[in-house]
This record gives sequence, structure tokens and C-alpha cells, in this order.
Amino acid sequence: MISPVHQVLREGTRDRHETLDQGLALAESHVDRDDYLTYLRALLGWLEPLEQRLWQLDWPEALRASERAGKSAWLYEDLKMAGDATPVLHCAHPPAVAAPDAYALGVAYVVEGSQLGGRFLAKRLQEVAPDLPQRYLHGYGEQLGPLWKAFLLHLDSEAGALGHEPQALQGARDAFDSLTGWLRSQRALRA
Ligand code: HEM
Repeated sequence: MISPVHQVLREGTRDRHETLDQGLALAESHVDRDDYLTYLRALLGWLEPLEQRLWQLDWPEALRASERAGKSAWLYEDLKMAGDATPVLHCAHPPAVAAPDAYALGVAYVVEGSQLGGRFLAKRLQEVAPDLPQRYLHGYGEQLGPLWKAFLLHLDSEAGALGHEPQALQGARDAFDSLTGWLRSQRALRA
């Protein structure tokens, strides 16, 4: 069963998720190499500066922060495997996470949740462009379920049980908005 705080985040960001999954070239059946690499570079430009701060915060061990901190490295790996040496521009204003609080958990919900669609996207990409590297899309692999569950448990105990849903929702919305704006500016998302 879905926890109340999870429900708030899912419902409160549904329209924003739709904008991404309908506007990303990556999600289309005719995605090509250029679209894919543009998306990987753009995502990396947003994720790397955020990831460096987010998982350095003083989270409890149970959140398994260190296991979550390597998504930028997977993106670099894919770009390298694809022989792409185009410089990566970094987003100057990713969501500001300053403390391991409900707001930062809302931001982390977006970063962690973005792994959930990966399997589906990987399958689609495999059909149309089997030669493109997919380290990031494969993401946590077998650990996807356990890591998502551990994240939701922590979200529930630290934001839900303390009545901090509004702060968590603000973090999640800010993260989606910042990511969407950045991907558009990098031409990785339809206007
Ligand atoms: C960087 C872009 C993306 C972000 C930040 C993102 C974010 C999220 C989040 C936060 C969730 C969790 C929803 C929940 O609370 O249950 C989710 C789930 C999901 N996303 Fe995305 N998403 C992205 C791109 C996509 C794309 C392009 C697709 C496919 C067209 C997609 C398909 C899915 C699916 C199928 C789920 C549900 C998976 C499940 O319940 O097991 N996502 N995503």
C-alpha cells in the first residue's frame, strides 16, 4: 500500500511527470543517436551538481546514500562508450539542498524515481538502437526494488510521520521544474 506522503508526491507531480514522459525524444519510437546523447548530456548537466550536494548530506545509514551517488558516473560511462566528447554544460541553479530534511527528500524522490522508468526505456531503445550504451538506463539493476523501498520507508518516517508533506512536495515540484526547464534549454525536451 502506498503511504500518504508518497501519495502526496505522486499526485502532486503527476502533471510534471507527464510533461517529461511525453516531451522527451528518448521516449519516442524513432529515437536516434543524437537525441539520445543530447538527453544524456543534458541530464548529466543537471544531475551532477545536484548529486554532489544531495548525497553528501548527513543522511542516516538506512537511506544507503553512498549507493545512490553514482548516477553521474554512469552517464559519463555511456557518453564515453558512445565516443561522445562534446563538453557537458552544468546547470547553474539546480534545486538547493542544504540539509537532510523533507525538502531534500522531495528532491531525492525525483532523482530516485527517475530510475523507475529506465527499464521500460532501455527495452524500447534496445529495439531501435541496440548499439547505444545503456549503463544509466539499467541503473540499479536488481537493487532497483530494494533501494526504492528503502527510500520510501525513509520518506515516510522523516517527512510523512512528522507532518512535513508540504516541504517534501515543494522539493519534488522544484526538482521537476528545474529539470524540465534545463532539459528544454538544452533542447532535450520539446518546448
Ligand atoms: C528524467 C526524467 C524522469 C524523471 C525525473 C522521472 C521521475 C519519476 C518518478 C519520481 C517516478 C515515481 C512515481 C511514483 O511515486 O510512483 C517515476 C515513475 C515512473 N516513470 Fe518516470 N521519470 C522520468 C522519465 C520517464 C520517462 C521518459 C518515462 C517513460 C516514457 C518514465 C516512465 C515511468 C514509469 C513507467 C514509472 C512507474 C514505474 C513503476 O511504478 O514501477 N519516466 N518517474
